Amino acid sequence: MIELRDVAYTYGRGELFAGINLTLAPGSFHFLTGPSGAGKTTFLKLCYGELISTHGTVSLFGKDVRDMTRDDVALSRRRIGVVHQDCQFLDHLPVSENVALPLTASGRHAEIEPNLSDLLGWVGLSGQAAQRPPQLSGGERQRAALARAVITSPDVIIADEPTGNIDWEMSQRLLTLLVELNRMGKAVMVATHDLNLIRAAKAQVQARVLRLKDRQLQAAGADL
Ligand SMILES: Nc1ncnc2c1ncn2[C@@H]1O[C@H](COP(=O)(O)OP(=O)(O)O)[C@@H](O)[C@H]1O
Ligand SMILES: [Mg+2]
Repeated sequence: MIELRDVAYTYGRGELFAGINLTLAPGSFHFLTGPSGAGKTTFLKLCYGELISTHGTVSLFGKDVRDMTRDDVALSRRRIGVVHQDCQFLDHLPVSENVALPLTASGRHAEIEPNLSDLLGWVGLSGQAAQRPPQLSGGERQRAALARAVITSPDVIIADEPTGNIDWEMSQRLLTLLVELNRMGKAVMVATHDLNLIRAAKAQVQARVLRLKDRQLQAAGADL
C-alpha cells in the first residue's frame, strides 16, 4: 500500500537518511524507533505524502507521489489515518465534532451518525463527547486523536509518538486499540522511543521493529 524505494531526504543541510526501502503491506505492524532528531517524524511524513523524497520513490497505493497532483495526494491521504506528534484540536468545538471533522471536511456527513458514537465508545470517550479539547487529559487527547484518525476507516494508520506524554496504563490502552485496528487488517506504523511499549506490543502482535540510526533504517535487534 505504501512503498519506499531507495529513499533519501534532506532539508538542505546533508541527508537525514538515505537508501531506505520499505513496504507497508496490509495487516503489517511496524514500530519506528531512533534517537530524537534521527528523522522519525520526517520519515512518517514521506509515508503519508506530506513531504516528497529528495531521492528515490515513494508510492501510495500504487502511484508514485512525484507523479501525483495535489488532489491525488489528498485522495490517497483519505486512506491513511495520521495521529500527529502534537495532536491539535479545534478548541472551540466539542470532542465529538473534532473527531468527526475528517468526515465533515470531506462532505461525508451521512457517515458521521452511524460511526461516531461507536468510535467514541471504543476509545472510551463516550462521557467526554460534549467536552472541549482543553478539558481532556493527555491520554484522553491521544485517544481522541486516534478516533479522529480512524473515523474515515483508513487502510493505514500512522502514529507519531502517540504515547509521548501519557502514563503507562493509558499507553497500554492506546496500544490495545492499535492492535485491534491491525487485527482488522489495517497496516499500522508507530514511531516511538518507548521500548516498554514495543515489548508489550510484541506479546500481542507480530511487529517489525525498525530503527533510524546513522542515516540508515535498520532492523532493531532481537534484544527488544
Ligand atoms: N521543516 C524543517 N526544516 C528544517 N529542518 C527540519 C525540519 N523539520 C525537522 N528538521 C530537522 O530534521 C531532523 C529530524 O527531525 P525529525 O524528523 O522531527 O526527527 P525525530 O522525529 O526523529 O525527532 C532534526 O534535526 C530537525 O531539526
Ligand atoms: Mg518526531
